[in-house]
Amino acid sequence: MDLFIRNAAEVVCISRTGARDKTGSNLAEPEAIQNAGIAIDHGRIAWVGPMAESQDHFQGATVIDATGKTVIPGLVDSHTHLVFAGSREMEFEARLQGKTYQQIAAAGGGIQATVNSVRQAALEDLKEQARRRLRELLAFGATTIEVKSGYGLSLEDELKCLRVIAALNREGPWELVPTFLGAHAVPAEYASNRAGYVRQLTTEMLPEVARLGLAEYCDVFCETGVFSLFESELILTRARELGMKLRVHADELTPLGGGELAARLGAASADHLLRVSARGIEALAEAGTVAILLPGTAFFLGEAYAPARRLIERGAIVALASDCNPGTCPTENLQILGTIACTQMKMLPAEVLSAFTLNAARSLGREDRMGSIEAGKQADLVICDVPNHRQLFYHFGVNHVWQVIKRGRVVHAA
Ligand code: NIG
Ligand code: FE
Repeated sequence: MDLFIRNAAEVVCISRTGARDKTGSNLAEPEAIQNAGIAIDHGRIAWVGPMAESQDHFQGATVIDATGKTVIPGLVDSHTHLVFAGSREMEFEARLQGKTYQQIAAAGGGIQATVNSVRQAALEDLKEQARRRLRELLAFGATTIEVKSGYGLSLEDELKCLRVIAALNREGPWELVPTFLGAHAVPAEYASNRAGYVRQLTTEMLPEVARLGLAEYCDVFCETGVFSLFESELILTRARELGMKLRVHADELTPLGGGELAARLGAASADHLLRVSARGIEALAEAGTVAILLPGTAFFLGEAYAPARRLIERGAIVALASDCNPGTCPTENLQILGTIACTQMKMLPAEVLSAFTLNAARSLGREDRMGSIEAGKQADLVICDVPNHRQLFYHFGVNHVWQVIKRGRVVHAA
């Protein structure tokens, strides 16, 4: 045995039966073990159970004493835009004075402002900035992180961003999942030729990204004034033909029907969903498309929150993610997002943990390998300096993470 975590006040397993996801009332079941231990061998969980049953699992192992602490699965952040340059605090202030996100974008700010900064930035510079954000996310407990391109919006600049993601994934210790989001906005040079940009995406950019194998997923910002349902479907269908799996920014600012589209196309996830319709909720639940909710974005924009309770009641697979980006959610603090999910969307602490682990892993097609603490799974674990999982979100605004373990190795210590 390589590593043994002993005497944890609580180990929150999330699943103990090989579940692929958690829905309905099950989402609130932490599947926790009190006074527990975890044995790790060759980067995998070999055993988890009550200390009283630990027998010889200590043998030859380095021991971590987790007395008084809570162990949770490594968090999976399934939606980030953390490859960017520049910052947009002036927009933040403009919004406080009454301007809307859409008005700022229409005046040349918003996504286009970050695109201008990214186009000017060298790859190494972008990489260094993204690495800093990843270190923060890791320190807050994220061991696997989806990262989107989408601030390049030309073939060359999108490839630059995707290469940053690939390089940082090789570097580790995190595991990154790359998503191509060339359809994040219509860039300024195509402002009077939207169809031209959609053509550029489907005939040049997507095939080249696929040929280079730089993206596992393709995402589209399906939104009034950004990409219509029709345009989104064209782009996503082309991506699917090229072998990419799909994610959709859906029903964030207006109820356009992106949720229904994501379900119909068999997308892995529909994200945001602040304005999802009743039909959208049914469609997502029916299709098994993961509903990824981003409480930090609603909080930071001052918008109404996604209907988490209704999604859970209708049986949708609900995940949570940070949306870490310079415009609508500049934070890496996943724990405070958990508190916001509790107080504003009425999710229970155990539901927040299920949504940030197994269901998020499911949205990334990695639920067989991560997202729960079960024998056989990769040893991605976070030891938190709290005696039970409720305190993680109850005592908010501070970082409770004590140690982060990725593939059986301690990769961060507070
Ligand atoms: O997820 N919705 C679109 N994309 C980001 C915001 C990007 C930005 O404003 O820079 C989001 O909220
Ligand atoms: Fe986003």
